[in-house]
Amino acid sequence: MTARMLRPDDDPIRPAPVDAVEIILDGEAMTGVQGQTIAGIVLASGRLAWRRTSVGGRPRGLFCGIGVCFDCLVIVNGERDVRACQRRAVDGDAVASQYDRLPEANA
Ligand code: FES
Repeated sequence: MTARMLRPDDDPIRPAPVDAVEIILDGEAMTGVQGQTIAGIVLASGRLAWRRTSVGGRPRGLFCGIGVCFDCLVIVNGERDVRACQRRAVDGDAVASQYDRLPEANA
């Protein structure tokens, strides 16, 4: 069996047209389609990291993609700790990257 390209007009399933969704991540507008996750839209825009680790400030983005690792946390419309790989984007979502410094050690 080989894969073959189908022209959209010949596709028997004829998927319905999808609505565009626009989100704002740290002031940058990004466009996706309805049903896409926030992580999907951000990755499709070419950005691979949107969070920094508390230790070392290393960049993080999508790791597991299934809601297990919590590497993709973002702030969505003011709500913290949202997993970008699990949250479907809604048109107009205001997304902010999340970075929490460790509390200073009492020495
Ligand atoms: S990428 Fe692992 S929880 Fe989102």
